[in-house]
Amino acid sequence: MNITDTIHYVGVNDRKKSLFEGLWPIPYGVSYNSYLIEDERIALVDTVDAAFFDRFLAKIRDAIGTRPIDYLVINHMEPDHSGSVKLLRAFYPDMAIVGNKQTLAMVNGYYGEAGNVIEVKDGDELALGRHILSFHLIPMVHWPETMATYSKTERVLFSGDAFGCFGALNGGVMDEGINTDVYWGEMERYYSCIVGKYGSPVQRALTKLSSLDIDVVCPTHGPVWKAEKARVASIYDRLSKYEAEEGVVVAYGSMYGNTEQLAETIAETLSEEGIRNIVMHNLSKSDQSYVLTDIFRYKGLVLGAPTYNGSIFPQMEALLSKLEMREVKNRVFACFGSFTWAGQAVKRLTAFAEKMKFDVAAEPVEMKQGMDANDRERAISLAKAVAGRLKNGRS
Ligand SMILES: Cc1cc2nc3c(=O)[nH]c(=O)nc-3n(C[C@H](O)[C@H](O)[C@H](O)COP(=O)(O)O)c2cc1C
Ligand SMILES: [Fe+2]
Ligand SMILES: [Fe+2]
Repeated sequence: MNITDTIHYVGVNDRKKSLFEGLWPIPYGVSYNSYLIEDERIALVDTVDAAFFDRFLAKIRDAIGTRPIDYLVINHMEPDHSGSVKLLRAFYPDMAIVGNKQTLAMVNGYYGEAGNVIEVKDGDELALGRHILSFHLIPMVHWPETMATYSKTERVLFSGDAFGCFGALNGGVMDEGINTDVYWGEMERYYSCIVGKYGSPVQRALTKLSSLDIDVVCPTHGPVWKAEKARVASIYDRLSKYEAEEGVVVAYGSMYGNTEQLAETIAETLSEEGIRNIVMHNLSKSDQSYVLTDIFRYKGLVLGAPTYNGSIFPQMEALLSKLEMREVKNRVFACFGSFTWAGQAVKRLTAFAEKMKFDVAAEPVEMKQGMDANDRERAISLAKAVAGRLKNGRS
């Protein structure tokens, strides 16, 4: 599998893992991408999860036979990419590990590999023969040591996790030759779950990398982007600015359906008010990775939950913590909640909105026990206020 005549794809597909990072479902699998640059000297850019080492080594040997690997460039020292470093060193003992200072310290810390390393700084170059590689630090996308490697000879950027997505590769690697439909949603979900906290570093990386003349983007997960590279960059740009389109996510917890009735009333009213994109998530059922993705996509956020053991329904607390962690910004917000004897849910949601500096469009609706006509009216006016705020933003 060739990206260019001299750049070979030697990555692998993982269709066994259920949860990426032990957290995020990957129904379409995931790929760990690694690239071999064949020249007078041979460089490998990143490796794969150690569980796939046999296949990885076979692919390397298919591409370069018995020639040795001279350099292993580590763009991102996270075990999904660096997991094979130690094994690879056993097969290629003379291979120099190329990385920045932080990367090399981590390689030593995780794998005890400290010898035969080449430390590179931002902007440094490494000549392989025809290819000249340059190294560009893009810290916190999404680890501190992250860098991108660029071959100006072929205008190929090896971008690390930046521009990556979930979804194994089903035969083809280059976007031009495959049906990419499945990857767009998986890219938004990957971004929201993995990179979502680091909007500002992603913006800095986009600015920095925009000075390079790039034909092909080779990320560590998902397809290699050529025809669609502008679309990929625009998705990362939009998400990292927390820019959202008109629409509302109504996410709620409910054990017995009372809080859910408020959610239904709110959604129906939003629709009557002309809001077209409405996504409802019952947090006991929806996986949070999809909830996060929809929250990154839409401008309106309405959250509701019952009070539970003097606190808020646990699945809602789990979502709030994920949103706080990602510092989600610029949302039009409203909330609702329920209780039987002493309400806490609405207090927690109100404090959350304050912390997030959201634009709160309406008074919260706090419901004691079952929904009566007054609760219903308050839910309707909450929804009208949210819809009004969103429609004000129409251009
Ligand atoms: C395990 C459990 C703990 C609860 N803890 C509280 C509580 O601390 N304070 C309170 O006012 N209500 C509490 N409730 C009552 C619920 O908030 C109330 O029944 C609410 O109407 C449930 O909404 P739902 O029908 O949407 O699940 C609790 C209910 C359950 C099942
Ligand atoms: Fe990563
Ligand atoms: Fe990764």
